[in-house]
Amino acid sequence: MVKEIAIDMGTTTTRVYAKDKGLVVVESTAVAVDTRKDEVIAVGKDAKEMIGREPENVKALTPMEEGVISDFDAACHLLRQLIKQTIGQTYFGRPVVKLSFPLGITEVEEMALREVAGAAGGKKIEIIPAISAAAVGAALPFTGTTGCMIVDIGGGHTEAAVLAMKSIITNKMERVGGNTVTAAIIPYIKREYGMLIGENTAEMIKINIGSAIPKVQEEFLDISGRDLHTGLPKTVTVSSTEITEAISDAVSQIIDVIKETLDATKPALISDIVAEGITLVGAGALLDGLDKKIALDTGISVTIADSPVECVIAGLGRCLANEATRKMPAMYKPRRIQGDWN
Ligand SMILES: Nc1ncnc2c1ncn2[C@@H]1O[C@H](COP(=O)(O)OP(=O)(O)OP(=O)(O)O)[C@@H](O)[C@H]1O
Ligand SMILES: [Mg+2]
Repeated sequence: MVKEIAIDMGTTTTRVYAKDKGLVVVESTAVAVDTRKDEVIAVGKDAKEMIGREPENVKALTPMEEGVISDFDAACHLLRQLIKQTIGQTYFGRPVVKLSFPLGITEVEEMALREVAGAAGGKKIEIIPAISAAAVGAALPFTGTTGCMIVDIGGGHTEAAVLAMKSIITNKMERVGGNTVTAAIIPYIKREYGMLIGENTAEMIKINIGSAIPKVQEEFLDISGRDLHTGLPKTVTVSSTEITEAISDAVSQIIDVIKETLDATKPALISDIVAEGITLVGAGALLDGLDKKIALDTGISVTIADSPVECVIAGLGRCLANEATRKMPAMYKPRRIQGDWN
């Protein structure tokens, strides 16, 4: 029976890893509730697909925003379902849960995470900084004196950290991420084409033709929405150059997190980072041209980690095995030291 599990509950996607089994659940962070019966009718991808299409008696929502819990009950429903899916229906022996969290969240937000995991069926809850887990998952060499830099670009937040000597030396978190980039496309299309589009369409545009820097070969995409003036359906063709313009502020906000982290880093470590480069993790790092734009803006080479979307859960998974646990980078703030991984 599974006794220990690790959970990366992201703004967009939740991943669950079970000891001795590996990654067992990858689901959208979404819940749908029948408001009349007060019953959960779907979680994960099925619930995400209902958002914006719900009948009157159904409320579909994402319980996480900007890396933190925004709806306690919905987050609890989601985790309870995913834990059940992972350990089976029986609740004999509730599992130990290792949960990642973004550095820089408030103590209240941190407490809410612990409470949700407990209420959802976790026996003992250990919380671990997501950026530490990501560094382990990306196999970054942080045990020596040479500094290295990792940046997690998620849906709702971006976190950057400089690591050395098994510790996080400098870090910064801002509540901007891939979803901020998606959100920037909606007002652009409204302004330029007088057309209303939803979040799913905006994300589809971003993934298909969005780019942080102008593409060498311009690309085009037909998109449909509702005409602002007539209220009728309308289709227009947008170009990758337009989308680069639409998302440029959001992209700059993400890159500012990296610049500010570098700014707060000691010169000796900066020279290490210049030599070693910056490693990107998180699905937000998959935005076309973002690695190149970061390299251009910082003057430092940038690499996207192998399987960037799975680095956090892979690191948490390794943390479930005691041997690897000791390799987790410690926090420099003593109050944050949790669990036995330091
Ligand atoms: N191919 C792609 N190109 C560009 N962006 C992408 C791509 N695939 C996913 N994304 C974006 O990545 C973001 C989700 O990243 P990720 O799954 O790492 O977030 P998360 O862990 O759920 O969120 P967070 O860590 O902020 O709580 C979304 O904004 C999504 O639109
Ligand atoms: Mg994440």
